[in-house]
Amino acid sequence: MGYRGSAKQFILLVWVCIFINMFAMSNSRQMRPLLINFGDSNSDTGGVLAGAGLPIGLPHGITFFHRGTGRLGDGRLVIDFLCEHLNLSYLSPYLDSLAPNFTSGVNFAVSGATTLPRFVPFALDVQVRQFIRFKNRSLELLSAGSGNYIDEEGFRNALYMIDIGQNDLLVALYASNLTIGPVLEQIPSFIAEIKLAIQNIYLYGGRKFWIHNTGPIGCSPKELALHPHKDSDLDEIGCLSVHNDAAKAFNKALKNAYKEQRTIFKDATFVYVDIYKIKYNLFARYKKYGFENPLMACCGYGGPPNNYNVKATCGQPGYNICNNISQSIIWDGVHYTEAANRVVATSTLSADYSTPRMKLEQFWETSS
Ligand SMILES: *[C@@H]1O[C@H](CO)[C@@H](O)[C@H](O)[C@H]1NC(C)=O
Ligand SMILES: *[C@@H]1O[C@H](CO)[C@@H](O)[C@H](O)[C@H]1NC(C)=O
Ligand SMILES: *[C@@H]1O[C@H](CO)[C@@H](O)[C@H](O)[C@H]1NC(C)=O
Ligand SMILES: *[C@@H]1O[C@H](CO)[C@@H](O)[C@H](O)[C@H]1NC(C)=O
Ligand SMILES: *[C@@H]1O[C@H](CO)[C@@H](O)[C@H](O)[C@H]1NC(C)=O
Repeated sequence: MGYRGSAKQFILLVWVCIFINMFAMSNSRQMRPLLINFGDSNSDTGGVLAGAGLPIGLPHGITFFHRGTGRLGDGRLVIDFLCEHLNLSYLSPYLDSLAPNFTSGVNFAVSGATTLPRFVPFALDVQVRQFIRFKNRSLELLSAGSGNYIDEEGFRNALYMIDIGQNDLLVALYASNLTIGPVLEQIPSFIAEIKLAIQNIYLYGGRKFWIHNTGPIGCSPKELALHPHKDSDLDEIGCLSVHNDAAKAFNKALKNAYKEQRTIFKDATFVYVDIYKIKYNLFARYKKYGFENPLMACCGYGGPPNNYNVKATCGQPGYNICNNISQSIIWDGVHYTEAANRVVATSTLSADYSTPRMKLEQFWETSS
């Protein structure tokens, strides 16, 4: 009896386990992707327009949206292509007070954002505090029965993306008259802010992180045009060495921080994406990607070598637009064209530049 009874119990237990497993597996397959993003103009889908009222109208948006959306560029950003890949609608900025749609996630990125100083709109620490408030308020509204907000499970399964640092480096470079020493000294404090952001997001339930390093800011037509330089100031493809050295030092420290966070938060998943390498490749092998005049802005003034003039930037009186935008890497002297962003997104989605080599969609395939 006793033996039979326990055998029955055992069989029942096996069935229960199989059932639970099947349920968990089918459940995990259906886990809905959600993106929660922090950063600057690389991923700002309208935050600066909503938050600061900066009128970013046409010609920004001319290629795809055919209106100003607040994105700096002629069309879609890398994050828009990532959303498309996941079959998500584009992210609404957190600051958008007029009919935002948070069913795909939420975007805290604001153009110009830095990691430091703190407490200023819209530094990284402010973006993270906005997230904490957003989560709290979403859950409150859900429990009050109103609206289509992200629930506890959604926040747990969301991917938290961070792409910030380039503006900190530029501010530091300007302040040091383009000498690298003072910039290197500040990098640890920028990285500390990013670590703090990760820790706070973790504390509020985030378990999936996606970190972009910073691009080759020395290849920006604006930087080349603003800073008189000698050939010896340039690297082998004509980008400003001091800028790119600062970016590389930042990225090295960021990668170390990523490795450290992985060992501290063992139940979280982290992916680090080498955006620098992807973007540098665009400039170094531009012909392969169908681009021309890699160091020239498409939208600006002045013609070669950079088509950038601070008195007639893209959208200001006097600017011109190149004949074929999709042959340019850089749109306005700083921000990338939709064509370039598409290549960056495709490379990002390949996982060839990711550590570990985990694809974006895999975040929602494995059970957590
Ligand atoms: C997006 O939708 C397409 C077409 O329905 C499908 O083939 C693809 O697997 C989907 N991608 C993801 C990541 O769900
Ligand atoms: C929000 O976006 C989702 C996904 O694209 C869509 O299904 C839904 O209808 C939208 N909601 C509103 C109120 O527009
Ligand atoms: C939201 O914040 C309030 C005030 O700090 C707190 O009392 C409440 O428990 C929080 N709600 C959630 C769902 O975290
Ligand atoms: C940069 O140059 C300005 C003007 O020449 C000078 O006032 C300033 O002290 C310099 N800063 C550094 C960090 O060398
Ligand atoms: C613009 O450039 C792209 C990429 O080189 C090319 O495929 C396209 O045909 C060009 N369009 C025009 C109108 O010349």
